[in-house]
Amino acid sequence: MADRYLSFTGTAPGRFLTRRLGLPQPTALHRWSAEHPSFTGELLHLSAGKSPLDGPDGLAAVLARTGLAVRARSERPVAVVLDATGVTDIDTLAEVHAALHPVVRSVARSGRVIVLGAPLDTADHHQAAVQQALEGFVRSLGKEIGRGITVTLLRLTDANAAESTLRFLLSPKSAYVSGQVIGIGGAEVTAPADWALPLAGRTALVTGAARGIGEAVAATLARDGARVVCLDVPGAAVELESVAGRLGGTALALDITAPDAGARILAALPSDGLDVLVHNAGITRDRRLVNMAAERWSPVLDVNLASVLRTTDALLSAGGLRTGGRIVATASIAGLAGNAGQTNYAASKAGVAGLVRALAPTAAAEHGITVNAVAPGFIETKMTAAVPLFIREAGRRMNSLGQGGLPVDVAETTAWLAHPASGGVNGQVVRVCGQSLLGA
Ligand code: NAI
Repeated sequence: MADRYLSFTGTAPGRFLTRRLGLPQPTALHRWSAEHPSFTGELLHLSAGKSPLDGPDGLAAVLARTGLAVRARSERPVAVVLDATGVTDIDTLAEVHAALHPVVRSVARSGRVIVLGAPLDTADHHQAAVQQALEGFVRSLGKEIGRGITVTLLRLTDANAAESTLRFLLSPKSAYVSGQVIGIGGAEVTAPADWALPLAGRTALVTGAARGIGEAVAATLARDGARVVCLDVPGAAVELESVAGRLGGTALALDITAPDAGARILAALPSDGLDVLVHNAGITRDRRLVNMAAERWSPVLDVNLASVLRTTDALLSAGGLRTGGRIVATASIAGLAGNAGQTNYAASKAGVAGLVRALAPTAAAEHGITVNAVAPGFIETKMTAAVPLFIREAGRRMNSLGQGGLPVDVAETTAWLAHPASGGVNGQVVRVCGQSLLGA
């Protein structure tokens, strides 16, 4: 269902009326399109403290490769990158304020503010305190900056390992990711031959691909060059065939809860196996716990969590995922924050986050495979169109960007996690929620 309020505030009379009434003013976000695949304009590069990322092959070189014009001063930057990895005490923390205070007002609409921080694993409690302080700073700035601008904190030690992440965040692909703290390890990364086709020659399987977010994920991975295997229930076979056909992929009509689902997936894969596994299929059966019969509990846990565990195990133990592979599961902000009427759904989605945290280090150590999750907030799909009007309208507006996300926002985030150069991003649960007030 279209967001009529967002369309209305995009017109001159709509803007006038809603301003006069003091109503929210969401900004139409700049998203990726083939005609406008990247931002154009200036990137303002600032720093606080003495950065360990400086150096000939350091952060400046990576930023220069994003295609934006990197400047130390800018009247109207489309993005600001503040390197705060050198913030170690209260005085250097004050440099964060001093650097951003004069420029926040000048950032372009639908632009980006990215703060770079150091990992929190220091024994120096002064440094730990001021590095943790950056989280409160970033989340607060995300809530107040407005005009469709997103604010993100990246914790890193190696700018090259963060290149795919910086390119994602400094592009229209990350329009609905805000208020997030993302950690990047110092993995060895190899740049793809073509940054526009990073998944060329790779195979991706997407569950629940017949519609909604899964369809968008399959389309986005195919855009990035992947051969896609689209999986959905036999009841959705017609839609599934149509999606797979349009993307030049293959359709696999299969209920993911079938006990032999893992074996049937393995049989359907090309002989060289899979590079990207996206667990997207999901269902809801909402009721308050007091009214929730086992018939509403079990299927939700089975589709959203048990089948994710089973198919992951089946593929890993049979070597179905190649070295350097990527697993991206779908959590939800309901799983992180809790939601009345969704004890079953939130349990299943919190379980996904637990799976990611535990499996990520071992999968990386044993198979070179990363395991991450996306946690969508309010996304405009058939699932949310079925939500009663008042709750739907609240879901849309209760986030820093004042609007719901689109399936493509989750898909772009998935594609970044699936990127061959994203090997340093592991064990993360990244919310795609416009910085929802739920569980913020
Ligand atoms: P949707 O209901 O539009 O699509 C889900 C797809 O999964 C459907 O095509 C369905 O047939 C398929 N599916 C369901 N059970 C299956 C099974 N047993 N085997 C194979 N396929 C199965 O849902 P939507 O909105 O696209 O959601 C996709 C994922 O994102 C789900 O995991 C959902 O929980 C999650 N999510 C969605 C949010 C939203 O706002 N739409 C918010 C947070 C999370």
